[in-house]
Amino acid sequence: MSTLPIITLPTQALSNDGCEGTSTGSLEVATLNSDDLAAAASGDSASDAAKTQASTELSPDEQGAPGQRDHNGKLYIETVGCQMNMLDSELVVAALRREGYELTSQPDDADTILFNTCSVREHAEHKIYSALGRLKHARKQRPQQVIGVMGCMAQKDQSLIFDRAPHVDIVVGTGQMAEIPGLIKNARKDRERALAVSLDRKAGTRREVSASFQSYDPLREPEMRPSPYQAFVRIMFGCDKFCTYCVVPMTRGPEQSRLPSEILAEVAHLAGQGVKEVTLLGQTVNSYKCVENGKTWRLSDLLAAMHETPGMLRFKFVTSYPRDMTDDLLIALRDLPKCSHYIHVPLQHGCDDVLSRMKRGYTTAHYREMHQRIKEYLPHSAVSSDFIVGFCGETEESHQKSLEAIREYRFKNSFIFKYSERPGTKAQSLFRDDIPDDVKKRRNQELLELQNEISEEDNAAFIGREVEVLVEGPSKNAIKKADSSLKEQLTGRTRCDRIVVFDGNPRLAGSLAQVVVHDVTPTTLVGSILTREVQHGSSSLLPILV
Ligand code: 5AD
Ligand code: SF4
Repeated sequence: MSTLPIITLPTQALSNDGCEGTSTGSLEVATLNSDDLAAAASGDSASDAAKTQASTELSPDEQGAPGQRDHNGKLYIETVGCQMNMLDSELVVAALRREGYELTSQPDDADTILFNTCSVREHAEHKIYSALGRLKHARKQRPQQVIGVMGCMAQKDQSLIFDRAPHVDIVVGTGQMAEIPGLIKNARKDRERALAVSLDRKAGTRREVSASFQSYDPLREPEMRPSPYQAFVRIMFGCDKFCTYCVVPMTRGPEQSRLPSEILAEVAHLAGQGVKEVTLLGQTVNSYKCVENGKTWRLSDLLAAMHETPGMLRFKFVTSYPRDMTDDLLIALRDLPKCSHYIHVPLQHGCDDVLSRMKRGYTTAHYREMHQRIKEYLPHSAVSSDFIVGFCGETEESHQKSLEAIREYRFKNSFIFKYSERPGTKAQSLFRDDIPDDVKKRRNQELLELQNEISEEDNAAFIGREVEVLVEGPSKNAIKKADSSLKEQLTGRTRCDRIVVFDGNPRLAGSLAQVVVHDVTPTTLVGSILTREVQHGSSSLLPILV
């Protein structure tokens, strides 16, 4: 349901400059293309099932059967950014596949092209403007083509996207994902551009602005999910923390928690489809709070309730906010065996002056106290962090404090980012982006090297130990080799979220396996699966087929 009118603009001649950005090719942001989304659901039977359903439930116009439709039905989608974006793409792809679209990994093949975008750093936006620029000429040859920009950059840049890339047909913000199928259809039919975005944070009351950011969480069919055993479930969206460097409160709107009854129904539905691991998503996921039927639900209550779901093996959640790491949550993690003992709780910086300029709402002393409580309740847990280097006014001395923090907390891993000034943020108006790029790069490298050393040392402590792994499926190497032998390199994660690779039968995907670790890298444990010899009838442990 849209709460705002969709603005349509007549398509103009494609004569403007189009795109100005250049792609740096850096790996700072994850990208997910049609291949990734299609990966697990790629069996022919899966897509056939989707099409069969389309033909029984939709009108001939909606079915878009090849002979009837005015486009080739091929969809190319590229996703940049966080897990929230991956989930949005998955849901939009599912909606379009229901209408008869099929994914292609080649933009040249597609009459429908979508970019799900990220605005957290400038470089992520450059990538998208560059990709749009590359499509400009091909678009002239394909009058039936529809190009859409969705997500954070759509909400942030709005009609500026049409100015910079006039061949774009639809611009759809994070709060209007449900509109995409209809907008594509209209754009192709009427050749009018459409802009569907939410209200700016100051353009109405909190209630009005919140209502203009609609959560998009329809139930998913199993064949529409990228992995049969893992799923993301959004429990909240938006953010009210307003860290001075961050655009998310603008691009995702006010903090809103979804109703527990809806979340629990979604988890039960996924369990019924064979999902074994659910990752709960929220920008500050541990700030979750919702009153339903007079009861206040926090994240700990949600975890306790979903823990009862038959079939589920593991629950995780990202990303946490340090000030909201309450004892009830840590007690829930301690007492609920299906909860992963992994907490991603970004410190962002090791220096109090910088944290204060970032308006993070805590000091290093607060973070230390929180970390001590995590380790008291969950001694074997893994904690990970994000860091920003080169924030406005960061001295060499304050940078050293971030290095000290990595030494002190021995994070499992850290995501390290060079500060990128973002329009519309408080940092942009209050401070000067005064750290030269080469200094940012060097500081980034120093944090990364130290973190890698620590990760490798801490991983090495696992050598010779047995770990319980939730098997995810073939590793990236195995997929690349496409080896048809019975044993393949599999990948999975320990309870504290360490990645483990080992050889095994792909049938183990979605189950728990015991693996002995014999080698490590900073990011991965390498092991072999434990086979147990059991005498029939003498033990509940069955031999594992490897
Ligand atoms: N520049 C660099 N990094 C940023 N992040 C958020 N905003 C910016 C910015 N303007 C980082 C933070 C956050 C992660 C998702 O991205 O570390 O935790
Ligand atoms: Fe951005 Fe801060 Fe909100 Fe995280 S908590 S999304 S960094 S404003």
